[in-house]
Amino acid sequence: MKKAKIAVLVSGGGTNLQALIDAEKSGIINSGEIVLVVSNKVGAYALERAEKARISHVIVTKAECGSQSAFEEKLISVLKGAGVDLIVLAGFMSILSEKFTRAFAGRIINVHPSLIPSFCGKGYYGLRVHEAALSYGVKVTGATVHFVNEVPDGGKIIMQKAVEIKEGDTPEILQKRVMEEAEWKILPEATEKICKKILSGDIL
Ligand code: GAR
Repeated sequence: MKKAKIAVLVSGGGTNLQALIDAEKSGIINSGEIVLVVSNKVGAYALERAEKARISHVIVTKAECGSQSAFEEKLISVLKGAGVDLIVLAGFMSILSEKFTRAFAGRIINVHPSLIPSFCGKGYYGLRVHEAALSYGVKVTGATVHFVNEVPDGGKIIMQKAVEIKEGDTPEILQKRVMEEAEWKILPEATEKICKKILSGDIL
């Protein structure tokens, strides 16, 4: 069976990458295969996860490229070179400009650790998102998988899952609950959904 080629872009621990790898193994992801992992951080633990799963992996840093524009050009050439159908941002901590998002219009998805449109956009990433949710005092948060366009966290929503905030939560405790109850579930599900659409020609 033909499968959509998936590239996963990472910057850190890569627990979402791991959820994708596990989902491919268990068959939750059946319409796509992860062919490449790209990290913009040297030494990201996500790279070890890719290595263990025998997935090709490369490091592309802004520092080595010299500018955001050259960084994005390099990313585009690596991803086009691998013939990638879908790009999954899984904890990728770099905002991509229109130059990049246009090169893969409708073909990039991202997981964000809140219920968009709350606690999202520039400056809201990683633990900061959970700090903001706790300091605002919301009682429910969650995660969102959405298409990526030139507006940070502004593309069309694909899937969301709510997570309860509990008395005594710290940003770290909340981050873990949001990952376990929401991110690691909806990211693989949304990835399969979009791969299916790509294969059926629904997304050109
Ligand atoms: C995840 O919580 C992800 O949603 C978030 O960073 C974490 C990465 O963890 N992404 C963002 O905040 C993007 N705006 P991981 O490396 O273990 O997957």
